[in-house]
Amino acid sequence: MRFSEEFLSELRARTDIEELIGKFTEIKHRGSRTPVALCPFHAEKTPSFVIYRDTQSYYCFGCGAGGDAITFIKNIERLDYTESVRYLCERAGMNMPLDPVDDEYNRLRRRCYEANREAARFFYSTLSTPQAEKARSYLEKRRLSPETVKRFGLGFAPDKWDALLKHMKEKGFTETELVSFDLAKKTSKGGTIDAFRNRLMFPIMDLRGNVIAFGGRVLDDSKPKYLNTSDTVVYKKSQALYALNFAKNNSERKLILCEGYMDVIAMHQAGFTNAVAGLGTAFTKEQISLLTRYCDELTLCFDSDEAGKKATKRALSMLSSSPLKLKVMHLQDGKDPDEIIKTQGKEKMNTIINSAVNDTEFALNDAKGRVDTSTEDGKLNFLNEAVVILAGVDNAIERDLYVSKLSEELSVEKRAIEQQILKQRRFMKKAHENAQFDVARSIASGEEKISSPNPEKRGNVRAVKAEEIILASLLRHPDYLRKLSGILSAQIFVTDFGRRYFEDISSRIMSGRSLELFSFSEDSDSEEMSYLAYLFAKGAEISNSLEECKQCIQTLLEEKSKKNVPDVGKLSSEEYLELFRKKRDKKKTEGV
Ligand code: CTP
Ligand code: MN
Repeated sequence: MRFSEEFLSELRARTDIEELIGKFTEIKHRGSRTPVALCPFHAEKTPSFVIYRDTQSYYCFGCGAGGDAITFIKNIERLDYTESVRYLCERAGMNMPLDPVDDEYNRLRRRCYEANREAARFFYSTLSTPQAEKARSYLEKRRLSPETVKRFGLGFAPDKWDALLKHMKEKGFTETELVSFDLAKKTSKGGTIDAFRNRLMFPIMDLRGNVIAFGGRVLDDSKPKYLNTSDTVVYKKSQALYALNFAKNNSERKLILCEGYMDVIAMHQAGFTNAVAGLGTAFTKEQISLLTRYCDELTLCFDSDEAGKKATKRALSMLSSSPLKLKVMHLQDGKDPDEIIKTQGKEKMNTIINSAVNDTEFALNDAKGRVDTSTEDGKLNFLNEAVVILAGVDNAIERDLYVSKLSEELSVEKRAIEQQILKQRRFMKKAHENAQFDVARSIASGEEKISSPNPEKRGNVRAVKAEEIILASLLRHPDYLRKLSGILSAQIFVTDFGRRYFEDISSRIMSGRSLELFSFSEDSDSEEMSYLAYLFAKGAEISNSLEECKQCIQTLLEEKSKKNVPDVGKLSSEEYLELFRKKRDKKKTEGV
């Protein structure tokens, strides 16, 4: 249920977050500007849960939980959004609104669904007209059957400037609507043209089968190969997964994550109907939580080239804290599933799927691939890496299995490996505790120590800092978006994470929607609310000046130009090591 902004702002005015949280955990320093508490969401001995009165938000520097009053109730009482609002409503002595409010935003969403459905129909029917000859022969070349084309609703966007525009206008859609749904674009001369021209069209559907966006592929080698709808009122690419509407119905609760549209379609056509793919962005936390709803086991099926390997490692490290059972497929010589099915058949693909290895084996193989185990040096390096990898395996039986294998393979005594692993585990535990302690101490002493939840922070520290200052400032001064319009755009963001929030925040500013944390609650999951609360917390620490934002934009441009691809594939245990090192260095400089 969607509530009006008036209702939400009254509810917010009648809810004191400090008082609310005080019912669940004991608050210390009640009198201070920023009261702190023991975090009710994770076990801790020193308070790292901070309450911000001015923005009516909270953020835990220990576990990263954060948000507004609604998020707090959602998480602590495990209620959904509407139930949480009801909870706060009753508490504040207000009446719940009876009917869902049919506000402008809702109407826009409905129009967007309608427009996308109509556009999908148009592209599909165009595919069987003479002008789509090229597209049909391309589909044939890629061996897609008419049934597959129909099932996925593939279509063709004509090689004209305004074919879709004309059609949609006849159906009653306005240019403004089409531009805001990203089906049309404004030109620099002020005209309006179709967003997709001369492309094979892949409709993207949500879980209920509504068309929410499109991907369009060129029919030759021109660039860009794929064009994708940018985020709209019904589409957030970081939260959707291609073909999940079909794949979710698999009774085994196993899914296969591929790299692209074509791979997924080829897999489905070959009978592997549990394949899904991301949508042209790096794998995100939201996608993980979506996957977790529909599967217990996830097999990664990325290309075997360097980029694919990197993506695999990055995905594995993001998935490491999820409850999913993880597997990795090994595709040979840079091939993708589409190619394997086409050239070697579905039986071969089936064999590859069945021989997927688990995440530990993948990490071990990868480490082994990087050294020459025929030399003593190489063997030692590999063993050291293997120890770090196996120390991260919590199941003792599983660990023992790998240790036995390693010991045999490298002719090293099993007991020696075991001892090293135990030592490493103790070390990791200590490093973790130390890190926790650091956070708690810096909070208690009031020194700024905000550990950003941006997963790309490592290797991008300077850029992430600049991005966060810009975002935090925009939340406090929405007018900056206009004031910085010539120089501030999504393109200058270095991390996907930062860019995504910039797009979200700026589209709110442009459509005149509220920027209060309270109003983000409905469309954001807990993860996002935490990050937004973090940005609000950050905003309280910095000057939020226009000048500072300009400097940050400059910083981003610099970082972007010198950006070397960050090593995102590192294991989390290495992060512990880094934390530990940081602590040690700090102690040195402090002379402790
Ligand atoms: N992608 C994108 N934009 C690009 C290139 C790729 O959004 N310019 C996304 C698409 O979702 C694509 C995926 O990344 O499906 C994988 O890219 P790639 O391996 O190049 O595409 P394939 O799926 O192999 O496409 P094809 O086989 O048609 O070349
Ligand atoms: Mn391909």
